[in-house]
Amino acid sequence: MPCIRNMTEADLDAVLAIEQACFPRGWSRNLFLAELASERSSCVVAEQDGRVVGYLCLTVLLDEAEILNVAVDPARQRGGIGNRLLQYACDEALRRGAVVLRLEVRATSSSAIALYQRWGFRQTGLRKGYYEDRIDAVLMDKPLIKEDVDAV
Ligand SMILES: CC(C)(COP(=O)(O)OP(=O)(O)OC[C@H]1O[C@@H](n2cnc3c(N)ncnc32)[C@H](O)[C@@H]1OP(=O)(O)O)[C@@H](O)C(=O)NCCC(=O)NCCS
Repeated sequence: MPCIRNMTEADLDAVLAIEQACFPRGWSRNLFLAELASERSSCVVAEQDGRVVGYLCLTVLLDEAEILNVAVDPARQRGGIGNRLLQYACDEALRRGAVVLRLEVRATSSSAIALYQRWGFRQTGLRKGYYEDRIDAVLMDKPLIKEDVDAV
């Protein structure tokens, strides 16, 4: 099982390699550095056998939390790492007082949408042509109820 720990600047080479493998126009190093410096944000990596195999960035503003970014090394996908990261996001959002967890996802990211549905997220909206190549953004959220957080 991977361990989840706080992301540091020393992780960014490995994080950026996964980011570039997963997204056509992913986050830059500076964007990750800004999230690491933000008091509102919590960024974690999943580490397995001494290697960074995934990560997640979460931000909390008052009682709303948002997953800003999540990805797993393509070579390690379908091994339960995404589930571990979502468990962290729900626990941390609840711990910091959020009552809802939101996110936006490319309509073409079927594995991510399947992951979010598995965790009880429901579609709340659609932004037409929001991403590069005019891909739609699907808006999803999940009420944070104590029982759900212990579900996986
Ligand atoms: C989405 C992502 C993070 C999932 O990570 P993962 O480690 O493969 O996920 P897991 O193995 O923990 O699977 C968790 C659940 O997601 C769903 N799922 C994941 N990949 C899936 C796929 N290819 N097809 C169908 N369901 C899938 C399943 O419900 C699975 O639950 P189960 O195996 O217990 O039934 C990973 O596919 C990824 O990095 N994708 C590219 C980046 C991305 O799209 N990020 C989201 C941006 S909003």
